[in-house]
Amino acid sequence: MSLVLIGSINLDQLFNVQHAPKPGETLIADGLIEAAGGKGANQAVAAAKNGMEVHFVGRVGDDGAGQSLRAGLDEAGVNTERLLTDPTAPTGRAVIFVEPSGQNRIVVASGANAEVTDADVEPLIAKMGPDDYLLATFESPLDVVETAFAAAKKRGVTTVLNPAPARTGVPESLLKLTNIIIPNEGEATALTGIDTVDAASTAESAKELCRRGVQRVIITLAENGCYYADQDGDEFATPAFNIKAVDSTGAGDTFIGAFLSKLATSSVEDAVVYATAASGLAVSRQGGQPSIPTAAEVEEYLKEAI
Ligand code: RIB
Repeated sequence: MSLVLIGSINLDQLFNVQHAPKPGETLIADGLIEAAGGKGANQAVAAAKNGMEVHFVGRVGDDGAGQSLRAGLDEAGVNTERLLTDPTAPTGRAVIFVEPSGQNRIVVASGANAEVTDADVEPLIAKMGPDDYLLATFESPLDVVETAFAAAKKRGVTTVLNPAPARTGVPESLLKLTNIIIPNEGEATALTGIDTVDAASTAESAKELCRRGVQRVIITLAENGCYYADQDGDEFATPAFNIKAVDSTGAGDTFIGAFLSKLATSSVEDAVVYATAASGLAVSRQGGQPSIPTAAEVEEYLKEAI
């Protein structure tokens, strides 16, 4: 069983601020760290740290940021044979404002992430089978994601979509090719048009996605945990653990990587609880990739917490 990601990879600059800057305002940050990030790369590291075989498809620029981000994935045990170096575009970057509550605001400059092509992905899809997972986000080109999902589905692969960042006008055809979708509330709202703000609207949004062809839906709800629904009519809500938030950057990504790493060997309920603990631990630390816990850390935490 392996996971192939069509993934974004960014160098993040995280500014600790008391509040996000208002129009025309200049702020002095309380602190700054530079860390490896990108939704796809964070998800890849989370899955690899939890024991999954992970192959990353993406692009970095021919620059120092690209080299250090590649080294980070290698160190985490992610296979980077299909992480290509783009000859013209720079490595992706993100500016992230983190408030004392841990809430963040992110702006991404896609750079080389936007240059990923069908040909980058094809060699890996050709080797995939029914035990494998293909995961993508909207930080990679939408047409490449849809073509890859169509090819993967023909091979019996389980397709997983994290529809982030939020966007409207997502083709219905892509939703029909998606086995598992994992949006947050804002992303669910953008997809369904249902204002996903409370328990009732979250359930309604999830069921709407099932009606549109997705087999399993998990809507992540930050400090309120998450909600699961599937086409068989099963549904459940899982609360978050009580962990002090420091920085929410990469929390959703950690949830997704940890969840997929458990899914083959656990019930979906247990995989969700495991992923909720992993993402809670990620929120208690700073940065995208630096905050992702190991399997041993998650298991240790669960032993104490349950
Ligand atoms: O989900 C968090 C990630 O979003 C950050 O690491 C940033 O790079 C953006 O891709």
